[in-house]
Amino acid sequence: MTTATLTRPSTLRRTVWEKLQKENSDLNEREWQERRIILSSVPRTFFMQLHAACNADCIFCSKGNGYPLFHLDEYLKRFGQELAPVLRRAQQVVLSGSGEFLGLPDAEHILEYLNNEFPHVDKFIATNASHLNPRMRELIAGSDSRYTLQLSLHASDAATHKLMMRYNAFDRVTENIRELQRLRGNTGNPKLYFMFVMTTLNVERLPDFVRFAKDMGADRVRAGYFYIYESQQKYLSLYFKPELANRCIDEARRVATEVGIEIELPHKFGQTAAPDPAMNFCREPWGQFMFSVDGRVLPCDIYGGFEDSLAEKSFLEIWDGPRYRAIRRALREGDGCFRTCPRHNPAGINEWPAHVIHRPKEPSQIMTEYNEAMAKP
Ligand SMILES: C[S@@+](CC[C@H](N)C(=O)[O-])C[C@H]1O[C@@H](n2cnc3c(N)ncnc32)[C@H](O)[C@@H]1O
Ligand code: SF4
Repeated sequence: MTTATLTRPSTLRRTVWEKLQKENSDLNEREWQERRIILSSVPRTFFMQLHAACNADCIFCSKGNGYPLFHLDEYLKRFGQELAPVLRRAQQVVLSGSGEFLGLPDAEHILEYLNNEFPHVDKFIATNASHLNPRMRELIAGSDSRYTLQLSLHASDAATHKLMMRYNAFDRVTENIRELQRLRGNTGNPKLYFMFVMTTLNVERLPDFVRFAKDMGADRVRAGYFYIYESQQKYLSLYFKPELANRCIDEARRVATEVGIEIELPHKFGQTAAPDPAMNFCREPWGQFMFSVDGRVLPCDIYGGFEDSLAEKSFLEIWDGPRYRAIRRALREGDGCFRTCPRHNPAGINEWPAHVIHRPKEPSQIMTEYNEAMAKP
């Protein structure tokens, strides 16, 4: 199929797809509860890594360098037919990747394709919000799909925004967000999440960011640690300022309660384990599948080396194959990547590997960089 042949599905087809989607979600939940190693369900979340160039230049980002650019026609030719039935049973498709995919020449076609072919599947987009032109806003707010936009801002004032993202777009971005607010009216579509990557340079402004998000009508604030891509970025890491990080997290939580907005914050430093044992788990390899247009697959965005590729194996060979099985088995025991996972393991945050992007680094290189960092933080 090419982009030119798209048509909207009938109501009957959509009803059938929604039924299949619900059956899959229920089965996937059961299989997760039972911690099955081999699954009959397909992922509830399908993460498409749409790599692109970027108009911003965030101080903490890899900026899409060295990743294959996404082309919709190439995707459809290589994987479209195989993956469409899987995607139809998913609950959500995440559209992110290295770079800014809404800046791709194909971006509007990609949204049209997903709206037409998978209207019942929720869409989640991570974006810097600078490319949201009227047509894109319409494709998002005016579609039959439910969208969530994670707006990566990291600042509530123009100067800090520029410091973090190294481009002059604060006014444009805030205007785009206001337009989206107007368009969504009372429908609640799209949901707007305000994203803040916490570094040594901006973390003290996180509480202000929470107030700003509330004033701008956001549905939720999400904050997360900066992970070191390149060793020269290490000065940005809160690994070196754990007390400061903890203080700002506490204050952000307090402000969120005061103004009345949902907030997702990372684990604080100094914890040993989650107070609730159910939180000592990661379910991502049971519920999520990430891939990029060259076929490379990852169980999650934090994972280091993972050798499987859709260029060599089918989706099912990978999803229930030896590598996915090994990860599920290790996680079931609280082992493997869970040990240093910054997202799911509260104790992991205390360790250096939780603050480093492992892809494509070897463990020995990470330790060399650690020694360098400790010699001259
Ligand atoms: C790589 S970006 C790509 C999508 C889009 N350009 C954006 O900024 O949202 C995806 C998400 O990763 C975050 N991110 C980028 N580099 C990061 C890093 N080194 N550590 C933690 N988060 C990072 C971004 O802020 C964004 O929320
Ligand atoms: S806007 Fe996104 S992709 Fe672009 S530089 Fe910033 S984090 Fe990276």
